[in-house]
Amino acid sequence: MMAFSRVAYVCKVPTHVPARAGHDGSGSILVRTGGEPDIDRLPAELLSAGGRERLQRRLADGELFVVGELDGRLVSCTWLRPGGGFSLHHLPGKSFRLGDGVGYGHDAWTDPALRGRGLRLAVFAEELRILERLGLGWEVSYFVDHQLEGGRRNLARIGVPVTALWKIRVRPDGSLALTALSEDSSVTPRFEYTREEEVPS
Ligand SMILES: CC(C)(COP(=O)(O)OP(=O)(O)OC[C@H]1O[C@@H](n2cnc3c(N)ncnc32)[C@H](O)[C@@H]1OP(=O)(O)O)[C@@H](O)C(=O)NCCC(=O)NCCS
Repeated sequence: MMAFSRVAYVCKVPTHVPARAGHDGSGSILVRTGGEPDIDRLPAELLSAGGRERLQRRLADGELFVVGELDGRLVSCTWLRPGGGFSLHHLPGKSFRLGDGVGYGHDAWTDPALRGRGLRLAVFAEELRILERLGLGWEVSYFVDHQLEGGRRNLARIGVPVTALWKIRVRPDGSLALTALSEDSSVTPRFEYTREEEVPS
């Protein structure tokens, strides 16, 4: 199992993108909704240990696979769930309900050799437009603590603000402490949890 950062943030962003993506480096990336053949174009490490079957199940469950191609290669991608709920695969059994008009984006990836060139930002902008066309006003996603500021900085380049809704801390005993950072009802935990402020530090 992938190691989970001790702290992560569940955040939301509006799906309306005021500015075009594409700063230096994203070049002529083509972003589109992918299908099963695109899963096989992912690098082997993302498909090993049952990965292919897990991704195929996502398509069968109605998730959208958004892929970015550069010179005919699949170089960046992400997954979108157009409503319902989600659970963090690092935290099995802990699911969250999405409010009306809210989608969920997860498992973003860019080819390691091409990171830092704006590819994720170009895919992010397009996935937001896809959700907006589906009538959804918000995308929820989570950021591990060390990616939150970078994610904010990145999305600010296309005029998209990031609002943190929940802070999730994994305690040393594996239990969770949640802090509601907003009154917002876009995401509601479906499990019993302890509020962070109730835990002596
Ligand atoms: C996170 C990741 C998708 C970013 O892809 P990328 O194509 O390099 O991203 P871009 O070039 O568009 O942007 C880089 C910027 O995004 C920021 N960033 C970091 N995490 C981010 C995230 N989760 N979402 C959006 N932007 C992120 C970086 O800090 C950087 O900002 P800076 O240039 O101001 O320092 C890539 O590093 C990756 O695949 N990492 C491994 C998988 C992962 O951690 N996925 C995210 C969690 S689901």
